[in-house]
This record gives sequence, structure tokens and C-alpha cells, in this order.
Amino acid sequence: MRCVGLLLFTLLIGRVAKALDNGLALKPIMGWLHWVRFMCNVDCDADPDNCISERLFMQMADVMAQEGWRDAGYDYVCIDDCWPSRQRDASGRLQADPGRFPGGIKKLADYVHSKGLKLGIYSDVGANTCAGYPGSLGHYETDAQTFADWGVDLLKFDGCNMKRTLIPEGYRNMSKALNATGSSIVYSCEWPLYEWAFHKPNYTAISETCNQWRNYADVYDSWSSVKSIAEWTALHQDIVVPSAGPGGWNDPDMLVIGNFGLSHDQQETQMALWALMAAPLIMSNDLRSMCPRSKALLQNRRIIAINQDPLGRQGYRTATLGSFEVWERPLSNNIMAIAVRNKEEIGGPQKLPITKVPGWKMCDFLCNVTQILPKFNELGIQRQHTTLAVAVNPSGVVLLTIQPILD
Ligand code: GLA
Repeated sequence: MRCVGLLLFTLLIGRVAKALDNGLALKPIMGWLHWVRFMCNVDCDADPDNCISERLFMQMADVMAQEGWRDAGYDYVCIDDCWPSRQRDASGRLQADPGRFPGGIKKLADYVHSKGLKLGIYSDVGANTCAGYPGSLGHYETDAQTFADWGVDLLKFDGCNMKRTLIPEGYRNMSKALNATGSSIVYSCEWPLYEWAFHKPNYTAISETCNQWRNYADVYDSWSSVKSIAEWTALHQDIVVPSAGPGGWNDPDMLVIGNFGLSHDQQETQMALWALMAAPLIMSNDLRSMCPRSKALLQNRRIIAINQDPLGRQGYRTATLGSFEVWERPLSNNIMAIAVRNKEEIGGPQKLPITKVPGWKMCDFLCNVTQILPKFNELGIQRQHTTLAVAVNPSGVVLLTIQPILD
């Protein structure tokens, strides 16, 4: 009863927490990050095409500019772990591994900017990164200034190798250091993920400090990973959803669409749920060789428009009906986005009458219904007592919008 009350309350009034006021990430950011697909591959002799090197990021930037990614909104090219040299320079500054980034990060940032894109970089609140490279502990001001001098546009700040009681202070201090540079650097945190193991994180403080924050485990290229992230989010939605809004977003981690682990239906489910969760759309895949169907899904303008809706309200799981699950997100212009998932992993498509979807209640008289996934279909004007049903594939999704017609 309490949960339902809180859910209705937050659906009505929207966001509860205040956002970090740096003018950035007013909509969830979109881009590409190397981790899931390229991990900590530093062997450029054996694997020059896939190792973490300036070449990889330049190639991704080229493809993003040439093949419609930037124009669809994916404009951040982001470096994850394993980029730095093991040693800081003589002035105590981080430096890129000289063999793999011979031009240095400033030159790479210039290149990325010349393509109309932005560059993201990675560091850690503790003494070392998760993969054991130098972290920022004791160097927050120096590192923030170094990133600003290089022209970096985003910092992913990990939480490994840090005393747990110092995590909030560390994340806050780096936020202040970034702000003090005067540069526009999106601040992507993993603060709550590293606190959940011990206690409930302070989401008011987190949303005042970061532009986006990871809550839960790393995504893998597998269906079990993607569905566990969705489940975690639904189970904690009353805690995490109210803190999201323009300037600060829950980050369920990267889109793994276009890799090896998900069927096409499962890729559609990830895309639909990430859109309804108002998640940063950060792909980790190989843009140089992607199946056209995955590319079309990632570049689907209608799904991206739901993700980027100006109201900036994160959606909720609103019903579990047998093997179906319904997620809903209120959009601007009195439109509701609805995802109906079929959680069965056996059998064929299952039908759910639309009148069973909780959001259908907003349809007092007539509603316009548009299906976006699995394929675009104008389902037209429906009466309140319509017999319309959606057919959802096993582990797949149907994504709809409904808009009441008032006259
Ligand atoms: C952690 C993060 C991942 C990735 C790796 C890199 O596990 O959660 O997203 O950045 O570190 O080592």
C-alpha cells in the first residue's frame, strides 16, 4: 500500500531531488564507450584493430560521423579503463600510454571535436582503477584540470580501491574540482553502486553531485545480465526513480545491442526499457561491423525521442500480469509510452488486451495508439473499451505510445 501511494505521488509530482546544476545532461547523454566490447585489451601487437588505442577511438569517431550515429544523437565517444600509462608524469599528471596513444589525449580530443563529437575519459575515486591503472585519489584537482586542459567533455569516475567511508566525500570533491575548471564536463559516477553493498545510498546528495550514476552491477553481453538490471531497477524504483530528471539520470549501464549475446527480440527489449528508464544511451559494440538490424534499432528515431523526451521523467514498472510485465513512462504532450514484455522464454507470441495495461486508464473516451516495436504500426484511434490486443514474442517487447483525444 505504501509503495503504491509513493508511486502515485511521484508520478503526479515528478522529480523529488535537485540536480547537479552544471547545465549539462539536460537529456540523457548518448554515445559510445569501449568497455563491454573491448575491455582491457592492451595488446596492440597481437590485436591492433581491437586494442585500447587512439586508433580505435578515431575509427569509432569516423564511423559515428559518417554512418548516422552522430545525427541520431550519439555524440560522446568515451574511453573506459586501461588508457593511462602506469606512471604519472614529472609534474604528477596522468598521461596516456605512449605506445597506444602516441598523439596524447589532447590531440585525440581535437580529432573527435573536428567530427562534431565529444570525448569522454575514465578515472577512479580511489588509488587505482578497477583494472589496476593509476586512480585519482590525492590528485582530484590536478586530474580535473588535466582533463579540462585536454578538452575532455565527460568523466566516468569509477569507485574501486577506495575506503568505503570516503566514497561520498571523494565523489563530491571531484565534482567540485571539475566545476572549478570552468569547463563543461559531464560527471558520470558509480557512487551508489559501491555503496549499496553496505547501505542505502543518499540519492539526494548523489543527484546534486553527478550527472548520471550507476546503481547496479556491470552489464555483460548476455540476456541474464540485461534482465537482472531491469529487475533490480523495478525492485528499487521507489528509491531511484524520483532522483532522476534533467541534469541527473540513473545509469543502468551500456547498451549491448549489436554484439553476440542477445537475440533480436532481446535487443529490442533492452532498447525499449532503456528508453523508458530515461537511461543514458551509451552503446558498447563495434560500430565498424554491425548487423543492419541492430543498427536500425539503435538509430530508431521514435525510440530515441522517447528516451530524450523533454519532460525528463523516468518510467516505472507498473504491472506484472502472469508472464507479462508492463513499464510506463509519462512523456510531454500528455503522451504515455508503454512497454509490454513477455518474460516467457518458451513457446510463441502471447497476447495481452491493451485494456489490461494500467496506463490505459488515461483513455477516458478515445485514444490514439502507435506501435513502435517490434515494427512501426499506426494502430489508430481506439475506444476506451477496445478489443485491441498486443502480441509479444518470448523475451521480446511491444513498445507503444498512447495519447488521449480530448474532444
Ligand atoms: C568497473 C566498472 C565498469 C568498467 C570497469 C573497468 O567494473 O563498473 O563499467 O569501467 O570497472 O575496469
